[in-house]
Amino acid sequence: MSNTKQARVLTGITTTGTPHLGNYVGAIKPAIAASAGDDADSFLFLADYHALIKNHDPLQIHQSSVEIAATWLALGLDPAKVTFYRQSDVPEIMELCWVLSCWTAKGLMNRAHAYKAAVQANEAAGEDNDFAVTMGLFSYPVLMAADILMFGGQRIPVGRDQIQHVEMARDIAQRFNHHYGEHFALPEAVVAEDVAVLQGLDGRKMSKSYNNTIPLFDTEKKLRKSINKIKTNVLEPGEPKDPDTSAVFQIWCAFASDAERLEMRSAFEAGLGWGDAKKRLFERVNDEIAPARTEYDRLMANPAELEMILREGAAKVRPESQALLEKVRTAVGLRSFS
Ligand code: TRP
Repeated sequence: MSNTKQARVLTGITTTGTPHLGNYVGAIKPAIAASAGDDADSFLFLADYHALIKNHDPLQIHQSSVEIAATWLALGLDPAKVTFYRQSDVPEIMELCWVLSCWTAKGLMNRAHAYKAAVQANEAAGEDNDFAVTMGLFSYPVLMAADILMFGGQRIPVGRDQIQHVEMARDIAQRFNHHYGEHFALPEAVVAEDVAVLQGLDGRKMSKSYNNTIPLFDTEKKLRKSINKIKTNVLEPGEPKDPDTSAVFQIWCAFASDAERLEMRSAFEAGLGWGDAKKRLFERVNDEIAPARTEYDRLMANPAELEMILREGAAKVRPESQALLEKVRTAVGLRSFS
């Protein structure tokens, strides 16, 4: 039910990897909380075409999409409130992507961070500049622009690394509008300032690329095992510990109330043993996610239900994408002969 007075909030989730605690704390939980507000007109989609840029394993591509859909729904994303769909169910996005490609300066794409980072890594390794760079990687800001402009996304919640892409989408929209008349709303990136960046098992940022993650919906047993693997130091029980350099404390803080944080800080300073600290952390995390884990397991065992939810999402948005694409085609001169 899109309310035209409400700014449309739109964001995509690239469907690679298995959701971990860092994703939960830093992205999923705040996004679901924000989407629960009555007044939001929010669009959230599985960016599965984007996933192909980084991963060419069909089993992983598929599995990851299913897991991510199940994760968001299990954690309370309400498809009656949030328009939830899968990018690849909306073929109009790809058609728009081509039209926008024809309005995107190559020089603009040369400046995109992801591409530049790949080129720099090649230079450092003494490889050809474009070694292993696909057109997908090079032009993916255009696909992202199509995602956004297709549905008139105005406020685009993203991580810092994606701000540039939203600005590129805005740039592309402006060029198109200038030439063909107003077709696209101009999007703006919205970056949450205070989201927690969780530390991983080794104390670096929790990230799939560092292989230091704690998967969100592993079994209870595996969650306990992962938490036991968090790096600590050799201090014995009874010796005071510095909470501010501890990943155990940092992850605790992401789950705890203010009072619990203070309490844990004193416990560290009073010499709480690592084994006990980890036990408490496990219990705290597990208490919070256990109900969602049950729902996650149920959904994973019922892929047909997930499929239906996503198809309903696509059925809800496609009248809009079809109408917009028709306007765009007409504007650029792709019209019926008669
Ligand atoms: N590229 C984004 C990321 O990696 C995901 C994404 C795809 C997206 N399309 C989008 C985000 C459109 C916002 C709007 O995080």
